[in-house]
Amino acid sequence: MTTPQPSNDALPTPRGRPLQPFDVMDACHQQIVTALHQMVHLLDHLEQHGVDGQAQETARNIFSFFMGTAREHHLDEERHIFPTMINSGDAQLMELTLRLQQDHGWIEEDWLELAPQFESIAAGYHWFNLEHLRLAVPVFQALYQDHIALEESMIYPQAKARIAEWDLHGMGREMAQRRKRRGLNPDQADRAAA
Ligand SMILES: [Fe+2]
Ligand SMILES: [Fe+2]
Repeated sequence: MTTPQPSNDALPTPRGRPLQPFDVMDACHQQIVTALHQMVHLLDHLEQHGVDGQAQETARNIFSFFMGTAREHHLDEERHIFPTMINSGDAQLMELTLRLQQDHGWIEEDWLELAPQFESIAAGYHWFNLEHLRLAVPVFQALYQDHIALEESMIYPQAKARIAEWDLHGMGREMAQRRKRRGLNPDQADRAAA
């Protein structure tokens, strides 16, 4: 498996300006897409090689990414992006945001069904059902990718235009502090809060 692992360290500083909270959020979308591809590669690997060291490492990375970074990303949006959209007075924006909020619930529900299987693979056990994963992973992947596409095309541009400079500073600080409290790598959010 050569696809890059989901990581917290792959964010370059944008040229000519300090890192902003939205850079962290955009980077997280990239990491989610990478992790979703990694899931599919893992299933191919399991089919050919079973649970070996490489499969365990990949499953461990996927498990910790969706338990940690991906959930924090949803919280970032729910605390800092969605309220601004819901209070925008724009009915279409409000409706769209409520749908995205509901998506977070579906994504969490799907992930909680998948998580024990990835945890089992990470621990070197064979308590997983490849047939079930072959059906469930593409559904999870499609749901997440549609969600990200909608955010990037409809919500993020609006949020970037509406969230004031001084709010961005507080947003970055809250994101960094929350990650520190939870023992996650706060690097990107720290740089955005500086
Ligand atoms: Fe989202
Ligand atoms: Fe998102």
